[in-house]
Amino acid sequence: MPIKIGEKFLDKPIIQGGMGAKVSLHKLASAVANEGGIGTISAVLLHEKNRNKELTYTCKGIEVEKLGLKPYLYAHELAREIKKAKEKAPNGIIAVNIMFALTHFYELLMTAIDAGADLIIQGAGFSKDVFKICKKLDQPLAVIVSSVKAARLSERLGADIIIVESGDAGGHLGTLEPIWKIAPDIIEAVKIPVILAGGIFDSKDVKKALSLGAKGVQLGTRFVATYECDAHENFKKMYLKAKKEDVLIIKSPVGMPARALKNPFVERLLKEEKIPHKCPFNCLKTCPGEDSIYCIADVLLKSVSGDVENGLVFCGSNVYKVNEIVSVKDLMKELTNDL
Ligand SMILES: Cc1cc2nc3c(=O)[nH]c(=O)nc-3n(C[C@H](O)[C@H](O)[C@H](O)COP(=O)(O)O)c2cc1C
Repeated sequence: MPIKIGEKFLDKPIIQGGMGAKVSLHKLASAVANEGGIGTISAVLLHEKNRNKELTYTCKGIEVEKLGLKPYLYAHELAREIKKAKEKAPNGIIAVNIMFALTHFYELLMTAIDAGADLIIQGAGFSKDVFKICKKLDQPLAVIVSSVKAARLSERLGADIIIVESGDAGGHLGTLEPIWKIAPDIIEAVKIPVILAGGIFDSKDVKKALSLGAKGVQLGTRFVATYECDAHENFKKMYLKAKKEDVLIIKSPVGMPARALKNPFVERLLKEEKIPHKCPFNCLKTCPGEDSIYCIADVLLKSVSGDVENGLVFCGSNVYKVNEIVSVKDLMKELTNDL
């Protein structure tokens, strides 16, 4: 039985994971949704010059100020990306990934709901309020976890889907364990659909996940190496060039470890060099701003816009196996081959 998201059924058991700092925007998400998977826009660091523009004061008729929120500051670009994705993939499923660690998490959550995201995917921690808001507004919610405890709690609080993310994933990591080690206990522990993420590379992995009782998989790294991925060509070339020994774990101001490719910037980090910076974004609840070792927003936005020497290139542990850029259509076909 395919997963039901609101009134829509998931045609193929594949989620393209949200990738922050403009790696997964409407172009990638709509291409995946049109192929029958879930396309995910990441709400992380979409700010542009008009970032203080206010959008609206209500979300589905509720005045956001009554919820103690600022009226949609910083959310203009997210609403625009969702609108464009839905225009390009009117029958597909568009999700929005919002990291709980973001300073403006609630504003972005309300914006995503108001703009018609089919599914909210919450990562990097969670609070009970998110479940209450999604329940009240009849909004499907998936939660990214790495432990049985967090999966059980999410189910009890009202999550519709659990995404188990392993230590082989790209970006920030909640664990360093491999997916095949942590997934079976979590699948066993909850009744709601479970999706496996982190280290899923090919159709063999997809089949293995389904045979364990998972309802689908979420991939990031493979979707970066597609024509439709919104990142700069130089970012994708780093994936093609990567060797196993280039894949490193670094410290992030988010307060979690993260996986990235070796480059001159990461070499400076490994020497524990402090990289002076301003704090133009105030993007993270957990970041000490100008006192942090570096500005994660600045270096992620640099790499995605092409400066892969001075920026941070997030990747999954399997990145060194990527050897060509393909279309989303071909990748989806390859992943679901013989299912
Ligand atoms: C470049 C990049 C950026 C990512 N950014 C985010 C993010 O902002 N939020 C999040 O929850 N996950 C993020 N992820 C994780 C992916 O959504 C996905 O779960 C993960 O990459 C799956 O592992 P895989 O890369 O081995 O397929 C990112 C991954 C990559 C490769």
